[in-house]
Amino acid sequence: MTRVARLILALIVGLALLTWAASSVVQTTALEWFDRDAQSRAELVLIGARPALADSWDDSASLNRQLVTLASDQRVIGAAACNADFSTRSITPGFPNEFSCMEVGARVRAANATAGNANERMREWSTVALLPTGRVLVSAIPILDQGQEIGLAILVHDLTYIEQREARVQTFLIVVFGILAVMAFGIPLLVTKGARREWNLELRRLLRGGGKQSREFQPILSDMRELIGRMASEREDDPGRWTAERLKQVLNRHLHGEKVVILANREPYIHQYTANGEIEVQHPASGLVTALEPIMRACSGVWVAHGSGTADRETVDRSDHVRVPPGEESYYIRRVWLSEEEQQGYYYGFSNEGLWPLCHVAHARPVFRAEDWRQYRAVNQRFADVVCSEVDSRDPIILVQDYHFALVPAMIRKHLPAATILVFWHIPWPNDERMGICPWRNELLEGLLGSSILGFHTQLHCNNFLDSVDRYLETRRDREHNAVVMRGRRTLVRPYPISLEWPVRWVESAPSAEECRAQVWRELGLKPDALLGIGVDRLDYTKGVEERLLAVELLLERHPEFRGRFSFAQLAAPSRTKIERYRQLNEAVEQLTERINYRFASKDYNPIVLLRSHHEPPEVFRFYRAADLCYVSSLHDGMNLVAKEFVAARTDLKGVLVLSEFTGAARELTEALIVNPYDLESSSEAMAAALRMSRDEQRDRMRSMRAVLSQFNVYRWAGKMLVDAARLRDQERVAGRLAERSGIGAAV
Ligand code: F6P
Repeated sequence: MTRVARLILALIVGLALLTWAASSVVQTTALEWFDRDAQSRAELVLIGARPALADSWDDSASLNRQLVTLASDQRVIGAAACNADFSTRSITPGFPNEFSCMEVGARVRAANATAGNANERMREWSTVALLPTGRVLVSAIPILDQGQEIGLAILVHDLTYIEQREARVQTFLIVVFGILAVMAFGIPLLVTKGARREWNLELRRLLRGGGKQSREFQPILSDMRELIGRMASEREDDPGRWTAERLKQVLNRHLHGEKVVILANREPYIHQYTANGEIEVQHPASGLVTALEPIMRACSGVWVAHGSGTADRETVDRSDHVRVPPGEESYYIRRVWLSEEEQQGYYYGFSNEGLWPLCHVAHARPVFRAEDWRQYRAVNQRFADVVCSEVDSRDPIILVQDYHFALVPAMIRKHLPAATILVFWHIPWPNDERMGICPWRNELLEGLLGSSILGFHTQLHCNNFLDSVDRYLETRRDREHNAVVMRGRRTLVRPYPISLEWPVRWVESAPSAEECRAQVWRELGLKPDALLGIGVDRLDYTKGVEERLLAVELLLERHPEFRGRFSFAQLAAPSRTKIERYRQLNEAVEQLTERINYRFASKDYNPIVLLRSHHEPPEVFRFYRAADLCYVSSLHDGMNLVAKEFVAARTDLKGVLVLSEFTGAARELTEALIVNPYDLESSSEAMAAALRMSRDEQRDRMRSMRAVLSQFNVYRWAGKMLVDAARLRDQERVAGRLAERSGIGAAV
């Protein structure tokens, strides 16, 4: 039996007992009252009739008439007159036999004796008796003649009417108690039910986000949100696969339809004029764009970026927005225009001649110029202002990307103290000693600590950052939460290894692997039994392109069986060509290619094919799907998504990845042939092993790496970061409320 059923049963039993007790009390009391009332009435009647009875005492006919008159009352059964010796003097018909003059006389005398007046004159007497017909009241009164008792008059009243009255009173009582019970239980029940219905409706309305929150609902709402959040986060921690759909759901749950604002220097779609004056859309060669573009497709919102395309200004609206992706418009790019000087100082100068070599252990000397720093600061402020103009709440979630915007988090924080600012640093973070090279290291660190969450690809880079903060700033390190607390504000520092969408769009739309191979073979003029290695990079000195080509050279040197058969195609997107170091690299790669080709080329064979131009993703994926091996030889790389793209492209489970141990990807793609790109001998041997690897082993390795990528895809990356950010925001909101109420500053 349920608790409610038990309660109802107890209430019913209680009520029945109460009704029974009340009716017994009322019954006894009413009986007493009615008996006393009947008694008084009988006495009054007898006292009233006594003179007349005394007068007609000696006239038996008259006495009889008097008695009959007395007995004519509806409730009187009979009347009798008794002599002083209690013999019957006169009696009406119907007088009950049970009460003879003799018997009543004896009882009157006995009663008077008990009352202590045996020698005095007798007094009125009455008693209630039970006859087979019902209860009766027998009353007697002495009849006096000049003060002398000459006999007794007896009157017998029928009391059955009292029982009928009692029964009516009882029924009345039960009905009254019943009504009271219904009112006592029913009305509160109805009121509670009504209130509960109202409460449910209101709660539902509030949970759906409608209208103003009334005060009394706030505690329950925050409890419910916390509970929903806990349940949702349990689901979010579910190891099941992350998809664009799942990410969308997480965002809806945590951001309640607010738009996502991403800030990145590079835009995902660049509008360029072609040679014949038409406008074409380009996908830039950028790992950042590769990773984040699917996130924006899933979440919509705004991507704030530098408008760097020659036709970018022609394609925006009045507020510098353009809807993308072309043909599948789902989010906006907000373009920010930079002058030549700004680009020079902020992008080429401080970002790419200063921070880029500082953060990569690739032996390029960082250059820090005061003018570049001034431009970097000013441009960061411009972007921060644009971001603030794009948000639609006082506590938005903003995703700031990469080393171009180290100062932006603190700048946004100044305008939007309650914002949740997520920063992802796409390149490595140097150790604290190396960081010390930068004259503005403190400003950079303070700028980044304006963020709520700061993400790196690896724990090592998190540690390096924390060491730098320890070394150069006055802050508190919260080791338990991997956080830094500066001026009462906390920044979480976490590893979030970036990845690709899964499945990758370009693979879905690519021709079959055989078809890709056939096309590439045709384009490069390869023999049917040729073997193809590929490298895909921006032409950047951190990518180890020179080391890669040298390793190919050594492979051909040490393994003559591959001469004339193995070719290496290097897809090289020119990058940052205004910087001297990049121009040098271009030349060096070109000369190296010429030298190696000169050594090993024949009439119809080139060992190195240098494809130095921008390649759109469908073309890149064709090469991935055609190749026998892909060599990623970065000297230092945050993650390197080329390695992941190659694995994603191989739906046929063929091909081998040779991967530098200095990439973040090497921590996840452990079934690749991991090499030290500086070690040319072992790198070339790894390539030889790759070219000889059995199909079975290729399949096993590829399958295992693909399983990792499908699981740890970019939706998971974004989901984890956004969920952490949303949780942090909820904590900060609660802490803020507490602080408001108590007037104490909230330490978050
Ligand atoms: O690796 C750092 C990074 O910003 C990437 O995120 C991106 O792949 C690449 O550099 C792009 O460089 P840029 O925008 O200078 O061409």
